[in-house]
Amino acid sequence: MKPGSAAGAPKGGQRPLLSLLFLRQLLLQLLQLPGSCVRATGQPHIVFVLADDLGWNDVGYHGSSIFTPHLDALAAGGVRLENYYTQPLCTPSRSQLLTGRYQIHTGLQHQIIWPCQPSCIPLDEKLLPELLQEAGYVTHMVGKWHLGMFRKECLPTRRGFDTFFGYLLGSEDYYSHERCVHIDALNVTRCALDFRDGEDVAEGYKNIYSTNIFAQRAIDLIASHPAQKPLFLYLALQSVHEPLQVPEEYLQLYDFIQDKKRRLYAGMVTLMDEAVGNVTRALNKYGLWNNTVFIFSTDNGGQTLAGGNNWPLRGRKWSLWEGGIRGVGFVASPLLKQKGVQNWELIHISDWLPTLVNLAGGHTNGTKPLDGFDVWKTISSLRTV
Ligand SMILES: *[C@@H]1O[C@H](CO)[C@@H](O)[C@H](O)[C@H]1NC(C)=O
Ligand SMILES: *[C@@H]1O[C@H](CO)[C@@H](O)[C@H](O)[C@H]1NC(C)=O
Ligand SMILES: *[C@@H]1O[C@H](CO)[C@@H](O)[C@H](O)[C@H]1NC(C)=O
Ligand SMILES: *[C@@H]1O[C@H](CO)[C@@H](O)[C@H](O)[C@H]1NC(C)=O
Repeated sequence: MKPGSAAGAPKGGQRPLLSLLFLRQLLLQLLQLPGSCVRATGQPHIVFVLADDLGWNDVGYHGSSIFTPHLDALAAGGVRLENYYTQPLCTPSRSQLLTGRYQIHTGLQHQIIWPCQPSCIPLDEKLLPELLQEAGYVTHMVGKWHLGMFRKECLPTRRGFDTFFGYLLGSEDYYSHERCVHIDALNVTRCALDFRDGEDVAEGYKNIYSTNIFAQRAIDLIASHPAQKPLFLYLALQSVHEPLQVPEEYLQLYDFIQDKKRRLYAGMVTLMDEAVGNVTRALNKYGLWNNTVFIFSTDNGGQTLAGGNNWPLRGRKWSLWEGGIRGVGFVASPLLKQKGVQNWELIHISDWLPTLVNLAGGHTNGTKPLDGFDVWKTISSLRTV
């Protein structure tokens, strides 16, 4: 994939056509032809890609030796969030993203939700996808949930997502999609498939790398999305959490990395980058991109014990040092007033809920007191570096 093929890049040779296209668009608008993609509501499509355990020094645009051409191009054409914070761990970060509230208010401050733990986001919390549904959005989730599944009421399909495809726990094998758990009382290890299509167990995906599966599902959803409806797609990739697994072809790029874990991890990051490129290309291809707000974020800092790197930030995932909580993040969208800038304002993962709900023309009725703030103006129009 060429870096230049990433979404948002102006295509050569179109310039002379601009005025013609403008006229055509004006005509379509005036005639209100069904073919026109301009919707009266002005509600943007929202595509949120959450990477897992991606470190500060693991994207090309932060000077990493890992190749991330698509992320670099998207970030370069958007707004890089360089003073952006998450929580140091999966469950707390993901719960903040979907509730707009700190985990101290939801009881999810105790590490993560472990496989056998009867816990989930409290059912009286109203989640981002529910608010977007109320605003008229079609809502899809693909990938990692990790916000509890001990009762059916906890499942993503019962918490505001029209569809869900992915896994419910925090980590698993990228190919078998099984999670193994050691049961201390019996001193045995048991493995089980954690892969769902909706609420059904999804078989038939064995030996296919999860990120490819998730990207393909995202593309299928984009391809079949009805143009007159606003879309919310939450793509929570398994990449680049351990276990360190990647197809051989991605390793070949990284012969120069001595550390075996780092080499594997680098390959995983590049595969993820390719997946993001595929998804944004689909948004372009199916005519959604020019009305899309695309957000890329990590859930926490890199795990340096499993290939991640947060240099020059100290610490790692699980720690409260900068390396654990300062996150890679950017927004790319034709709807941004400013593009190609770095934003150094303090922005937090809990800010997305009020920001996106307002952007969607929705309301936060029914939420408990929010910790996040609407930061869209700060992101979109503040004059920064
Ligand atoms: C988006 O692109 C489509 C197809 O190229 C075009 O018809 C539509 O007017 C564009 N919408 C906006 C908001 O620019
Ligand atoms: C658990 O089983 C392993 C072998 O599978 C054995 O080596 C170990 O001693 C056992 N531990 C306990 C606490 O029984
Ligand atoms: C990206 O798309 C190409 C072309 O369809 C495909 O061969 C490749 O496997 C995809 N990569 C990922 C990571 O989804
Ligand atoms: C929010 O809730 C209040 C009180 O129930 C209600 O009056 C108001 O109409 C609601 N706003 C929206 C936009 O639904």
